[in-house]
Amino acid sequence: MHPRRALLYMPGDDWNKINKAITLHVDSICMDMEDGTALNRKVEARETIAKALQELKFGKSEKLARINAVGSGLEKDDIETVLPCHPDGVVIPKVESFDQIQWASEIIETAELANGWDVNSIRVLVGIETARGIINLKEIASHPRLDGLIFGAEDFAANIGATRSRAGWEVLHARSSVVLHAAAYSLQAIDMVTIDFRDTINLKIEAAQGAALGYSGKQIIHPAQVQPVQEAFTPSDDVIDYAKRVVETFEAHQAEGAGAYELDGKMIDMPLLKNAQKVLDRARAAGKV
Ligand code: COA
Ligand code: MG
Repeated sequence: MHPRRALLYMPGDDWNKINKAITLHVDSICMDMEDGTALNRKVEARETIAKALQELKFGKSEKLARINAVGSGLEKDDIETVLPCHPDGVVIPKVESFDQIQWASEIIETAELANGWDVNSIRVLVGIETARGIINLKEIASHPRLDGLIFGAEDFAANIGATRSRAGWEVLHARSSVVLHAAAYSLQAIDMVTIDFRDTINLKIEAAQGAALGYSGKQIIHPAQVQPVQEAFTPSDDVIDYAKRVVETFEAHQAEGAGAYELDGKMIDMPLLKNAQKVLDRARAAGKV
């Protein structure tokens, strides 16, 4: 799976921002036809994204296109305009059921077959950002075309009538539910946007919180957020060194017949080994080990 530590959005009709994005070495670039694009600019967004997919070199950045919600009346033209240009993946916002993903999946598979592309080569990520999205997570997360679940805190708060706060308690249950279901179905979990994009300190706090909750990446909206967020979702050298020591010492103790032992004053056993292995997986995905 492509690493998605940071997933950068820009309005799909903004050619300059797309051109800027491809210079930023960001893991994923998501050209948006949904809420980042004004209602009277949807056609321009579709056409600009199609042109970008055809003409621009994205380097190692993943090329994603976000369509409008299934049922908005815009989704069919959105997906049919961009698919022939082979994005790496499609993001569907405000998903509330398995069937909405199935709708997109069938259109994508038809395009893959018609163009001779590998079936399943175009991946799908879905936004979970409504109360119904949260309560239907189990069926949503089970869709085989999925790579990841994306948590939308602002839409979720608006949908349930919560008031957003710095501490974020009002979205914690939903934010954790998304990680939980992603883990249960081996999907990536991509955390909420930090909207005060000029406040780097708050960005780092929220990114670290998301990583601690188990998220593998975070949505971002501004170039200044790329570096701090990619760093927050890459294990630090200290954390990697410790994880390596856990793995090494665990193996040595197992060979001697000890399932639990002490390292630096802490008890180490199987769950801590698994956690250390997860850290090393993430470090590997970020090209660090
Ligand atoms: N992607 C790529 N480039 C971006 C960008 C983004 N998301 N946001 C800003 N930039 C560019 C600007 O175009 C500008 O480029 P320039 O120096 O070549 O002129 C530079 O980065 C600095 O931008 P800045 O002036 O600080 O911000 P802004 O006022 O131009 O834009 C926002 C602020 C919030 C409107 C803009 O960041 C944005 O559109 N973000 C994405 C919104 C979105 O897609 N929302 C939907 C998903 S939640
Ligand atoms: Mg949203």
